[in-house]
Amino acid sequence: MFADQTVIITGAGRGIGAAAARIFAEQGARVIVNDLNAAPAEETAHAIAQTGGQAIAVAGSVTDPAFPDKLMRAAVDAFGAIHVLVNNAGYTWDGMIHKMTDEQWQVIVDVHASAPFRMIRAVAPYLREPAQAEKEAGQPFSNRCVVNVSSTSGLHGNIGQANYATAKMGVVGLTKTVAKEWGYLGIRCNAVAFGYVDTRLTRTKEAQEEAIEIDGHEIVLGIPQKVRALLDANIEQRIPLGRAASAEEAAGGIVLMASPLARYITGHVLEVTGGMGI
Ligand SMILES: NC(=O)c1ccc[n+]([C@@H]2O[C@H](COP(=O)([O-])OP(=O)(O)OC[C@H]3O[C@@H](n4cnc5c(N)ncnc54)[C@H](O)[C@@H]3O)[C@@H](O)[C@H]2O)c1
Repeated sequence: MFADQTVIITGAGRGIGAAAARIFAEQGARVIVNDLNAAPAEETAHAIAQTGGQAIAVAGSVTDPAFPDKLMRAAVDAFGAIHVLVNNAGYTWDGMIHKMTDEQWQVIVDVHASAPFRMIRAVAPYLREPAQAEKEAGQPFSNRCVVNVSSTSGLHGNIGQANYATAKMGVVGLTKTVAKEWGYLGIRCNAVAFGYVDTRLTRTKEAQEEAIEIDGHEIVLGIPQKVRALLDANIEQRIPLGRAASAEEAAGGIVLMASPLARYITGHVLEVTGGMGI
């Protein structure tokens, strides 16, 4: 489905991004695996290569303003073109509004909203120029798109996540704007809003193997035990499918929106929630 297509996925060393990288590669894509941490990014790319796929790892933080251009150049140097950008990288740093620091607010808005904006700006020439050439030549457009990762916290708000909910809703506005600005070139932009996915972000703080290090700060990921207990209580009543998604199931939503079968879908927010909140 993605033969001759190059897909960039940020935050693909673990969790949903790593699963998406594997599925895109299985479907024939050449994959650029980005992550803040080099070792898991290399691992994802290596595992893809071991099974006959094509992938390279490009480590770096999406919040470094110089990084998006570097990432695009690395993709083009390796594979010659870019077709799909998936803005997936991120983490949470929760706290109640009355206790949230400016820094806690800012870093989460940076990683979930400002970084996707800069990535999209950096990928613009690589998506727009070949599309413009196809348009001028009267050829059909190739599949080109952006998929942004949002969250039900962005759509509905969530206790303890003022920073994250604001950024994840912001990315929906960004998605719809790109869809409107680039649609005439056949370039689509959609968002996928996840509900409850079993990754390290939704494991308890006590179950974390390591903290994430951001600008010299160690942030313990995950959620408090009592919040996790609330998520799991009556799960069959809250989620029609009755369970959390696996990373692979969540990644399926990303691949679906990026696929050529979605070629008339743009500006959409796909809720991948097992039916939660319907
Ligand atoms: N897990 C859930 O229930 C859930 C729900 C809604 C939305 N999401 C979103 O899905 C996306 C993926 O999360 P996940 O659950 O797979 O978490 P995860 O922690 O398993 O994976 C996220 C990856 O992003 C990387 N990353 C973090 N900051 C980065 C940066 N600045 N630059 C580059 N890479 C960076 C991490 O190193 C990690 O490998 C995130 O945007 C998250 O907010 C997750």
